[in-house]
This record gives sequence, structure tokens and C-alpha cells, in this order.
Amino acid sequence: MKKTLLTLFIVASLFTNVRANEGMWIPMLLQNNEKEMQEMGMNITAEDIYSINNSSMKDAVVLFDGGCTGEIVSEKGLLLTNHHCGFDWIQYHSTVERDYLTNGFWAMSQEEELPCPGISAVMLKSMVDVTEKILEGVTRETTNDERAEIVKNNMKKLKEAAEAESDYQVVIRSFYNGNKYYMIYNEVFKDVRLVGAPPSNIGKFGGDTDNWVWPRHTGDFSVFRIYVSPDGKAADYSEDNVPYKPNYHFPISLKGANEGDFTFVFGYPARTNEYLPAIAVHQEANVIYPVSVNLRGKILDIYNKHQEKDPKVRIQYASKHAHLGNGWKKWMGVIEGINNFKGIQKKKDFDKNFTEWAYKSRQRGAYLNLISDFGNVYAEYEPYRLATTYLSETALQIEILTFAAEFSALAQVTKETPQEEIDKLIADAKEATKVFFKDYYQPIDEEVAAMVLQEYIDNQPKDFRPELLNTIVEKYPSVQSYVDELFTKTMFTSEENVNDFLDEFKASKAKKLAKDPALMAYNNVMDFYMENVRPKSIELNNQIADMQRVFMRGQMEYHAEQNPDKMMYPDANFTLRVTYGRIGGFSPKDAVTYKHFTTLDGIMQKENPNIYDYVVTDRLRELYESKDYGRYADKDGSMHVAFIAGNHTTGGNSGSPILNADGHLLGLNFDRTWEGTMSDLIYDPSICKNISVDIRYVLFIIDKYAGAGHLVNEMTIVE
Ligand code: ARG
Ligand code: GLU
Repeated sequence: MKKTLLTLFIVASLFTNVRANEGMWIPMLLQNNEKEMQEMGMNITAEDIYSINNSSMKDAVVLFDGGCTGEIVSEKGLLLTNHHCGFDWIQYHSTVERDYLTNGFWAMSQEEELPCPGISAVMLKSMVDVTEKILEGVTRETTNDERAEIVKNNMKKLKEAAEAESDYQVVIRSFYNGNKYYMIYNEVFKDVRLVGAPPSNIGKFGGDTDNWVWPRHTGDFSVFRIYVSPDGKAADYSEDNVPYKPNYHFPISLKGANEGDFTFVFGYPARTNEYLPAIAVHQEANVIYPVSVNLRGKILDIYNKHQEKDPKVRIQYASKHAHLGNGWKKWMGVIEGINNFKGIQKKKDFDKNFTEWAYKSRQRGAYLNLISDFGNVYAEYEPYRLATTYLSETALQIEILTFAAEFSALAQVTKETPQEEIDKLIADAKEATKVFFKDYYQPIDEEVAAMVLQEYIDNQPKDFRPELLNTIVEKYPSVQSYVDELFTKTMFTSEENVNDFLDEFKASKAKKLAKDPALMAYNNVMDFYMENVRPKSIELNNQIADMQRVFMRGQMEYHAEQNPDKMMYPDANFTLRVTYGRIGGFSPKDAVTYKHFTTLDGIMQKENPNIYDYVVTDRLRELYESKDYGRYADKDGSMHVAFIAGNHTTGGNSGSPILNADGHLLGLNFDRTWEGTMSDLIYDPSICKNISVDIRYVLFIIDKYAGAGHLVNEMTIVE
């Protein structure tokens, strides 16, 4: 049995770009997967997951704050998401006296729940296929430019008409690179309040050191609540609002995540590119990512050096470090994964098979030269992509340049500008100044500036360098001497000088501002980009998008011939998706095997009071020592913390519910294993695993650690 399955799998993967057990499926079309899901062990139906007529699980999943996923777990609109998704709001409500990031926060009653101005939770109400309406007027003769125009106009018309008839937000999204279009109706909740968060040494345990890595011990969750107007409608914040009564909320399973069990993840994956030609994957993984990894690695080294020396600097640069480090580490994983997996060769084999297939029928004329055409366009695109990457990973990493950029509008003020407008600009600039200096450490910035400018000069050809760089080469004895001058002459390194300048600002001072060397440097590199890089990049990018649309259509036809009974899933595009797979460990390389779960023992093994990422609080240690786990303990007696499974997830799936065969909540997705980060480009079920925090650990922290058991009492617990 095993052997036939394996052979089948190899054959299938050779013929199409889609392998078994991968895919992020459109919930509306989940009927197509129901049989397979049930064969894998699912006890519920596709209709239980997504229904437009009856309440279903989709009524309990939201796009949280524009970038993550959240799920409703009580009749009173209680919502779970990751700690790293709620992070900004926890920080927003923190002060030195009430440091919720460090100590955690728990509302002990609804009155104590904290409003979050500007937050959103978006719930899908329904979606419809509008492909025909969007492509109305497109014929075989339509050129690409005409097509783009037609699609744009049809989209606008359709959206406006739908909005006029509905209270919901309407969005139209392209799927399969413009081969299909769906219109989506959303309810947008805006009164969402912070209810609870563990201290960072639980919610972010392991920090950036453990990021993207298994085994993992992060209690990555936070708790919110959706409020609505007294008549039950989504509304702006108001004191009179009441907790939302959802159509559905997830029951929570205390049965645990067991090896081999069926699971599915329901959420908002942001972006994947699984159907690119080999040349595109090669460019991404072998040309662009290495540049970003190298530059970010050097910047992070500089951060680390200063952060280790000074605890204040460590905190100041924590978030910047996390931000740069997240991509840096992921891309290293992608590069390595694609190499180990021989990903480029596999893509090349596919491209070749595809082209041979195209030659077999007269109907397939559009696909004959696609692969070689891709080769040409991507070759032309490469220097422009590199130019963009160098700009963003070098010059734009110099903090005083991007800070100075916030004063651009002020530098353009004239005598004609109304005073009101000037006052507004000054107020904004003052706010930006406060934010900037709170986390600014000049020695880091100077060192980064010298390093990145040297890299920019060394690695970009002369005609792809902004004038500033050529001036440095021609007029300065060294990059360092330019950097010294920049940091001496600019006013943007001194909070006092900037504030004094703002206090005395008049239109007549705009010229002086425009001459500040930091603002001039920023404008110089950006002007170069806008004139010499961006237009051509857009043109080539559009050309590639048109070709990719045709390539995708071809792959869909090709796939349908090889696999008549399984659809091809569309790339992630920030729409609601279902993915499914089994819980289980894996073997990333020879002699190494990972178990599928971690426990509190692992936290104690990692504990180190001197390393910020591995600090354990006394309270958690006490609970560990007394083994006071209550009903949240596993049947093996230990406290399980996190687990892995074979679900095809990506960024945006953070906070997504991971559910068992009965649709009960097992945990919250928060990451992927490092070996499998290539899954946005090429998915390999043997090494691509998603990481979730065990819901029993979440409840243990809420109940036993924080004493907020009243929240658990709201939930529906299945023992
Ligand atoms: N790697 C995870 C995700 O993109 C988690 C990121 C937050 N955690 C962290 N330690 N930086 O995106
Ligand atoms: N941590 C990611 C997020 O913030 C999810 C992990 C992934 O990329 O798979 O969405």
C-alpha cells in the first residue's frame, strides 16, 4: 500500500506542478476536497466548514487587523490570535508604569477590556464567481493593454453596483493570475478590544533566536473581543457597544494533537507563488534572496554588537531586529530548501514537459514559446529587480534618511501654503520625531550607513547607482568620510535641534530644510529610482503578469488532463482558505528526526536568566515544579506547548485555527519549520510543516498562570 502510494506520488509530481497533500483551497469550492478530507479522517462535511445558508465555521474566522487570522471562541465574541499579531496593540496600551509587553495584561471584567482605535476584524459573508462579468468584452483579439483596461472598468462597475445594494464591504479578487475572479462580501468589525496577553517571555519565548525553527516553545497567543452596536451590527467604537454574538464559535478540544491525526487550518494566507517557471524561482532564490540575506545579515550583526553592549539599545532595536530578522532567516531557509530539494531542476523538468505537451496540439499555440519568452523577460528584469533590492536593503536602511523623508512635505511648503496645512505638517513631524528618537541609537545608524553605502557602490553598476553614490566615489576620499560629514551636518540626529526647528518653522525655512544633507540624500536615491528603475520595472512586471496568466491557464489545462478529479489550487491572495494535513514529526536530514510536539520540559531546558529570549518567570517555574496543569495536561502527564503538522500555510496564516477531525480547536498556527520555508515557491510535504501552539497550553496560561479562568468559562470545552 505504502509503495503504490509512493510511486503514484512520484508519477503525479513529475507530470504536474501539484503534489499530494498541498494546497490552500477556496472554502466555497471545498466540496471538491470533501471526499479526500473524509478519507484522511475528517468527521464533518464541507458544508459544516463553509455554508452560505446555515451557520458554519467560516462565521468564526476573521482577517485580523489586516495581516493575520483570528478565530471566535465564545458566544460573546471572544477572539484568539497570535501574540505577534496582537503585539502592536499590546505595545500601544503599554507605558513604563503599565508594561503589558513585559508583564502581560488580563482584563478581569468586560469594563477592563481595552479599545484599539483603527483595528479591524473582517469576516467573509459570502463570495461569488464573477469571472464572466469581469472578462466581458475580452476576446481572443484583445491586446494585453486593452484587457487590463476592460478588467479595470468591469471591476469598478461591478463593485459599485454590488456596494449600492449591500451594507457589506465588497472586494473583487483575481485568482489563478487573472484567470478567475471572485467577488467577496465582508462584514468589517471595528470595535475590537484587547482582553488579554501573556508576558512576552511566554508569548514570544525563544524570540528571534527560535523564529522559523522547530522545536519551538512559544506561547504565541493573545485574546481580543469583538463588540457591535446594541442592534448587533458592526460599528465604530462606542461605549454603548455590546459583545458580538457570532453565528458560530469554535469548540475547544482538550484531547490533544496526536501523531497521524487529521487536521485542517482555516485562515488568510497572504501570498504564494507556486506556479512560476524555473527561471523565476531561480531569480528569486539564487539572485535576489542572497543579496537581501547578505545585507540584512551584516546589518543584524551591527545591531547585535550594540544590543549586547547596552540593555537600553537591546530594547530600542528589538522590533527593528525582529522585522529585518524575520525575512532574513526565512529567505536563508528558502535558499537552502530549494537547493536540497533540487527545486530548480524540478521546475525545469516541469517547464520542459509543459512545452512538449504544448507541441502536441494545435490548440496550444499560446504556450509554445512561453518558457523561452520567460527566459528573455526575466533576464531583462533582473538588473531592475536587483536595483530595487539594493535600494531598499541599503540606502533605505539608513534610519536618518527615512526619518528625514517624513519632512518632505514640509520642505515643499511655500508662502502660498495655508497656515492650517503647515500646522498640521508640523504636528505630524513632531509626532514622527517623538516616535523616531524613542528607538534611535546613532552609533548603530552611522555604522550601518557606512556599510550599506559601500555595499551599494561595490555591487551595483555605475548606471544603476543614484548620483549620490557616484558623487561619493568621485568626490570623497572614502565612504566613511561622506558618512562622517552627513552625520555632522544633518539636523536629523538631534531631537532637540529637530524640535527647535519645528517650533520656529515658517514657510521661508522650507528651503533650508530641503538642503539638509539627509533629506537631500533620500531625495537623490528616490528620484533615481522613480526615474530610472520604477517605470521599466512596472513595464516588465506587467509583461510578466500577462505571460504568467497565460502560463497559469496552460498549467490548468495540462493539470486537468493529467488529474481529472483534483483541481489545481490558486495561489494565496489574502482570501479565506482551507488547508489540511496530518499531525506528525519529520526528518529534515540524514539521522535527524523531529517529534511532533514540545513540552514545558523543553522550556525549562532552554531557560537562561541571562539570555533575554529564554527568561522564564518564577510563576511558570512554580507551576512546572508542582505539575499543576489541571485538565490541560496531556494524557502522558506533561504540558504540551507546540506541535507540527503538514498543513500548507504561509504568512497571514498566523493566528489561524488548527482544527481536528471534528472541527474542534487544537491550537493556533504561528509559524513554519525552517527547512520548509521554501513552500511559498515549491511545496514538499516531507519537510514543509506548520507550527502551532497547543490550545491546552493557551488555556493553561490563561487559567492557571494568569488566573483569568473566567475567560475559559466562556468557551465551549470538549474534554
Ligand atoms: N516567523 C513567524 C511569521 O512570520 C513569526 C514572526 C514573529 N515572531 C518572531 N519571533 N519574530 O512570520
Ligand atoms: N508567522 C507567519 C505570520 O505572521 C506565519 C508563518 C508562516 O509564514 O507560515 O503570518
